[in-house]
Amino acid sequence: MSTETLKVIGTGLNRVEGRAKVTGRANYAADNHAAGLVHAYGVVSTIGAGRIESMDLAAAQNAPGVLAILHHRNMPKLYRSPNEFENGTRVGEVRIPFEDETIYYAGQFVALVVAETFEQARAAARLVRVTYRPEKPKLNYFTEERPGDAKESKEHPGYQRGQPDEAWVSAPVKVEAMYSLPVEVHNPMEIHASTARWEDGRLEIHESTQWVVGQHKALAQVLGISPQDVTVHAPFIGGGFGGKLFMWPHTVLAAVAAREVQRPVKFMLERKNEFTTVGHRPPTKQLMRVGASADGKLVALRHDTWCQTSKVQEFMDSVGDVSGVLYDCPNVAITQRVVGGSVGTPTPMRAPGAASGMVGLEGAMDEMAVALKLDPIEFRLRNLAAMDPTEKLPWSGNHVRECIELAAKKFGWDRRDPAVGSMREGDEILGWGFALATWTAERSNATARVELRADGTVRVACATQDIGTGTYTVIAQAAAEATGVPVERIEVEIGRSGLPEGPISGGSMATATVIPAVLAATKKAVAALAKLATQADGVFAGSDPKALTLAEGALHDQRSGRSVPLAATLAPTRVASVSGEAKSAPGPERKKFSFRSFGAHCLEVRWDPGIAKLRVSRVVTVIDAGRIINRKTAANQIYGGIMMGLGMGRLEESVYDLRNGRVLTDNIADYLMPVHADTPDLDVTFIEHPDEHMGGFGARGVGEIGVTGVAPALISAVYHATGKRVRDLPVTIEKLLA
Ligand code: MOS
Repeated sequence: MSTETLKVIGTGLNRVEGRAKVTGRANYAADNHAAGLVHAYGVVSTIGAGRIESMDLAAAQNAPGVLAILHHRNMPKLYRSPNEFENGTRVGEVRIPFEDETIYYAGQFVALVVAETFEQARAAARLVRVTYRPEKPKLNYFTEERPGDAKESKEHPGYQRGQPDEAWVSAPVKVEAMYSLPVEVHNPMEIHASTARWEDGRLEIHESTQWVVGQHKALAQVLGISPQDVTVHAPFIGGGFGGKLFMWPHTVLAAVAAREVQRPVKFMLERKNEFTTVGHRPPTKQLMRVGASADGKLVALRHDTWCQTSKVQEFMDSVGDVSGVLYDCPNVAITQRVVGGSVGTPTPMRAPGAASGMVGLEGAMDEMAVALKLDPIEFRLRNLAAMDPTEKLPWSGNHVRECIELAAKKFGWDRRDPAVGSMREGDEILGWGFALATWTAERSNATARVELRADGTVRVACATQDIGTGTYTVIAQAAAEATGVPVERIEVEIGRSGLPEGPISGGSMATATVIPAVLAATKKAVAALAKLATQADGVFAGSDPKALTLAEGALHDQRSGRSVPLAATLAPTRVASVSGEAKSAPGPERKKFSFRSFGAHCLEVRWDPGIAKLRVSRVVTVIDAGRIINRKTAANQIYGGIMMGLGMGRLEESVYDLRNGRVLTDNIADYLMPVHADTPDLDVTFIEHPDEHMGGFGARGVGEIGVTGVAPALISAVYHATGKRVRDLPVTIEKLLA
């Protein structure tokens, strides 16, 4: 479809589910209050490592309203999930809750109290007395600069091209710097929750999940029952950012508890649990070594990384990846090492790998520009990769140069005085920083069903979900575009297992994955409609079904020029609806091109040294993500990503007590995140070049790219204002005053 013919795609259509959300009619996992509902509350480990020696449950069992207490001695038999992403069974934590008496991290669930009311469950949980045999928690990641027992990652091994060591030794200009990022926590507005109900051996569970298909398969595996006996409902999700991609222990506990007490059970986590049992962005250390020629061409790039995982399983944040792809450097080495610790298992967090990795890469690029006395933007422009240097493939589309030039122009970059601390406004010193943004453009498999109905409406069904990103809206737009039926008459059903299998809401790939399936299914539904309409009793009796197309909500005969609206087409046939179901998958184009999105951030800070006040005042961002399906929801994603990047740069840090492994900052008063008062002037632009190799309408997706590059742009701006290069995030006032 060419751009000129598009009517609904590309507009800033309001969210189709917006009214339901603002009027409170949107149903979230913890909103389900089935008759007889009871409540669960988790007892968590207060030690970071060791064993449970004994549990005294007498007082809790006798407390008012208590129905059951589950723990490692009475837990019914469960099975570990095979934990394979491709088969939809990947889980956040492979260990089954209450599997044995071992404690792997503080905050691990050790018992679950089920009671008539939430307050009774919580009160009884506080009466559970657990005696531990504590061991010293393993937290050497935090104390050793380069953890000695780190091992090369199995999930994401290293990478090399050229002669990085020789090139480094002989490089005319060198930068060597260690960057580090703390543990970050997703903290979606909607806390994780599960509401489970069994009926005749079948489980209905309401979940806050980014992947109904995966949750469905993994839950059936763990419970050892047929997937046909499980339905996962997730019509609305209040944010996920990766923390809700894979199943965590509380979901299993809710399901088991409901079966044990034969009542519907709601298990809503508390904010503190968000810091331990549902993943986090792992901390990383990144030793950067960058070499350049005197005229500003990269000659060597080494990115050695360390990441902390749990003692239960490996999770590696592949922070080195970006160093292989973004710049045209002939000699590159990336190592990725991982070390276990007494912490919960990490999980992807918005732009996993890239968000952290860009801090090291773009941080070092900025340092190199200073060393070369080159403008940081000019330095980038001299080194952009013309094709993907790791895959050795042409880009499916890459307009990063246009992003950079437009961002610089909108920001007024040409007025930048490179001298540190030179740009003053009253008491404040301005700092201007720059960094690129990038994220992969994946696409996976999806099936969708499209139903054309006698009342003139269209229904689209797909087991994907909308985590706040706009999936309902973009599906409605795609169906409206393909049928010509107005958006108000498109019904979208997603957020339930059992519908045709759709994509995970992760990796920024839901839009690019689901839209081609919706288009293919529409085609099939139209073919079915044409067949029906050309039968003896049809409105196009005797016409050639192949000559019939659906446009502007009407079936149109290209030969006779006659059009009949959808409702009138179906009326004489007495059929309520026709439907088409189709699967779409990425094709051979994936072997011919490298798919990636790009962007550029210019960021301004204001530093008032008299009162030690640092504020981010302006961010100008330009993104090349192919076609933008909905300008409003897409811009929303980028705004959110930038704010998350500002959190990474300035505020967020999950702090552990090294004596016992407990999280000291397990609430959103101590774990700082940017709020509205921290929001700078945000200027987000998409340069729209539809990606002709992506399929659908050429959209690459926008969920994650916004966060990448923001924190290094901030580090660069702070350096420009203050002369202090803070390489361990977040950039706190204390570090600036040190
Ligand atoms: Mo994103 S970290 O794939 O939810």
